[in-house]
Amino acid sequence: MALAIYRKYRPKTLSEVLGQEVIVEILQNAAQLDRLAHAYLFFGPRGSGKTTVARLVAKIANCETRHKDAKFKKQGEPCNKCRPCQEIDNGTALDVIEIDAASNRGIDEIRNLKEGIRLSPTSYQYKVFIIDEAHQLTSAAFNALLKTLEEPPEHAIFILATTDYEKLPATITSRTQKFHFKKLALIKIVEKLKTISKIEKFKIDESALELIASAAEGSFRDAESLLDQIASLSQTHTDCTQTDTDSPHKSASSQYKSVLSPYKSVIKVEDVERILGRIGFSKTAEMAELLIKQKLDSALDYLSKINEGGYNLLQFNKDLIHYLRRALALKISPNLEKEFKKELVEQEIALLKKHSQLVDETKMINLLKSLIRAYTEMRYSPFPIVPLEVAIIENLSIN
Ligand SMILES: Nc1ncnc2c1ncn2[C@@H]1O[C@H](COP(=O)(O)OP(=O)(O)OP(=O)(O)O)[C@@H](O)[C@H]1O
Ligand SMILES: [Mg+2]
Ligand SMILES: [Zn+2]
Repeated sequence: MALAIYRKYRPKTLSEVLGQEVIVEILQNAAQLDRLAHAYLFFGPRGSGKTTVARLVAKIANCETRHKDAKFKKQGEPCNKCRPCQEIDNGTALDVIEIDAASNRGIDEIRNLKEGIRLSPTSYQYKVFIIDEAHQLTSAAFNALLKTLEEPPEHAIFILATTDYEKLPATITSRTQKFHFKKLALIKIVEKLKTISKIEKFKIDESALELIASAAEGSFRDAESLLDQIASLSQTHTDCTQTDTDSPHKSASSQYKSVLSPYKSVIKVEDVERILGRIGFSKTAEMAELLIKQKLDSALDYLSKINEGGYNLLQFNKDLIHYLRRALALKISPNLEKEFKKELVEQEIALLKKHSQLVDETKMINLLKSLIRAYTEMRYSPFPIVPLEVAIIENLSIN
């Protein structure tokens, strides 16, 4: 794996973009009819496909095959083979200008941008400006941009991308075609991770992929980077534990061997838990069950095991709070199941439903309040286990 996974598996066509169906359909239609807009605004959470789609638009605008082949054009996709398509993929296209507004805030950059807009493309049909983190542009830059957006030159396409829509001036947003990128459902992320693992030939349990996807909190990029990290770390890890359990620090040669024959064994949810310092859903659910059933001594035992395992207790408490609040909310409003399906898989929902039936509303509200208070205290405590332990004792022993 020479390329980072998230770059290697960046969608090359609009139809490979997952979870953004409306956007894909509108852009494919525009491409079929040659009616791309001059200014787009892509907004939505990180790692949801904004930069990816911006580059696809740049390719569609300039793809030579599309210009020559009317039948191909009907697909509403770039060919990925012609010179412009390949140059845009490699990042060597002179007429596709990517500006990171977060780091290019000076007068010079704005002057360059203004001049760049005025000049015709050097070898493509369209000059495409992709302005990332657009909310960070300076007001001078917004002014320069505004003038061009009012009367955009025929040869220019602007794509503004941002995670922070509210920070853009209305004068700018009203002159763009707006696309809202959605946060991605867990299941979509798991699906893509599965495909990647298959192609890369690393064997990994489904529950391990689910934990990765859940830790990514809706960002494909985060999920793919985590998979990358786990794949490379687990190569060394699995090899050490398998070939030489007595000495995990065996000679460098054994580690070298593991790189030559990677992914021998299956990566399990426990491996991911260790690497992330975070436990998976089923263990969180076990702890939640003990709390819901008011089993004080077992709950404290469980907590102490998690602590000894070296897991991040703050994260554990956060996961616990999320679990319990879902159980409580589900008891009060069973309709929420639809919402939770975006973040959880079938079996997890089933378990959660079972637990929600056992919830006593008043006790749960008190417990949640204590856990939330403990969360704040834990951040500043040299002994993060203590506030958590106290919160549990305070709520479970009283009855
Ligand atoms: N909708 C998606 N479908 C498939 N893969 C995706 C999708 N969104 C993101 N990815 C994967 O995540 C990587 C990063 O995506 P991208 O750079 O487009 O995110 P972004 O929305 O621009 O994020 P940021 O706001 O952090 O810049 C891509 O290379 C791709 O592998
Ligand atoms: Mg981006
Ligand atoms: Zn092409």
